[in-house]
Amino acid sequence: MSFTSRAAVHYGHERTLDITEVQVEEPGPGNVLVRLGASGVCGSDRHVLDGEWPMPSPTVMGHEGAGTVEAIGEGVQDVVVGDHVVLSWFYPCRRCTNCLSGRAYVCTGSRSEECLLPDGNTPLSRDGTRVYPYLAVGSMSEYTVVPETAAVKIPSEVPFDVASLLGCSIATGVGAVVNDAMVAPGSSAVVIGAGGVGLSIIMGLKLAGAHPIIAVDLNEQKLNAAQRLGATHTVISGDDTQHQVAEITGGGADYAFEAIGRKEAIESLPSLLVRGGTAVLVGLPPAGQSINFDGLELAESGMRILGSNYGSTVPGRDFPRLAELYLAGKLPVDDLISDRISLDEVNEAFEAMRRGERARSVIMF
Ligand SMILES: NC(=O)c1ccc[n+]([C@@H]2O[C@H](COP(=O)([O-])OP(=O)(O)OC[C@H]3O[C@@H](n4cnc5c(N)ncnc54)[C@H](O)[C@@H]3O)[C@@H](O)[C@H]2O)c1
Ligand SMILES: [Zn+2]
Ligand SMILES: [Zn+2]
Repeated sequence: MSFTSRAAVHYGHERTLDITEVQVEEPGPGNVLVRLGASGVCGSDRHVLDGEWPMPSPTVMGHEGAGTVEAIGEGVQDVVVGDHVVLSWFYPCRRCTNCLSGRAYVCTGSRSEECLLPDGNTPLSRDGTRVYPYLAVGSMSEYTVVPETAAVKIPSEVPFDVASLLGCSIATGVGAVVNDAMVAPGSSAVVIGAGGVGLSIIMGLKLAGAHPIIAVDLNEQKLNAAQRLGATHTVISGDDTQHQVAEITGGGADYAFEAIGRKEAIESLPSLLVRGGTAVLVGLPPAGQSINFDGLELAESGMRILGSNYGSTVPGRDFPRLAELYLAGKLPVDDLISDRISLDEVNEAFEAMRRGERARSVIMF
């Protein structure tokens, strides 16, 4: 049995998405059918549309989603029909050594990155041809099917637009601060790029008690949003950035986060740090691009470079925690949402993102 769902499909060669119908299979063993409530429009989707990362196609885009469990497959135990869930774009296998040692975020058995369910299939098709859900989520669709390990129950009081962002930008940004960098109160931090992810890092830094928190972006609107979310200082990105950061921090920041995915910005991180500071790479550059650092300077200054993927999120632990922080008023996720749009407006949202506009667009179903 299968049924139709309206979805935003990427055919691999164009920058735009087709809004079209796909067929969705009933959930097989271990999988759940989710009716989407909302899907965020993330910079990672944009990388795929712009041909920067190889990806199977055609693909239903979207990996930052939340919705309601509509049906469960055989053996599913973690959720029941009617639960509100946040979707995870990296599902753990629960069997590899990393999963067994509590490090599900570096699971080696997941097939998320191949856009496949654990059994190697996809739940989507069109005209009899396989369609891939991006990162095994495909949230830019009215319905999707994911492994139960990728659908985490959260309190139903959290609205879907907010819940969707917990699934990528918030988990990534807050996780980069608390799980990866483990920023201590009073540490100084600078964030390059104040889009959905950078602004989430800023929220995480505020939560962690960092001070000062410096936001750097090209766009004034983004810097205003950064200030509302916790940045104590803002800097328009340019030749003077290093000097201004040094001035504000009294010599360099303890932590410098990159949240654009731009080679030059990543390479500038050491220049923003105090001796012994930590550079955190959150933005994702095009595949195959190498980043150059001065090895001698790096070693002699005792700097640390951290790669940060999904904020080392453990979805079952972290999504409910983030939801509770939101409900307690400690994570103002609503302020991250600049535009609520329909599925049909998704191409405009990507165009606005390319121009550096909008904090986060969220598709409402
Ligand atoms: N590591 C992870 O797990 C993870 C997860 C999600 C997203 N990401 C990556 O994070 C990056 C950001 O994603 P996003 O959704 O926030 O994208 P976005 O497009 O919303 O944000 C990028 C921001 O960078 C700013 N910017 C662009 N060029 C700049 C420059 N030269 N100097 C300063 N600012 C500049 C833009 O104005 C914008 O505010 C992407 O590379 C995305 O793939 C990583
Ligand atoms: Zn994302
Ligand atoms: Zn695993």
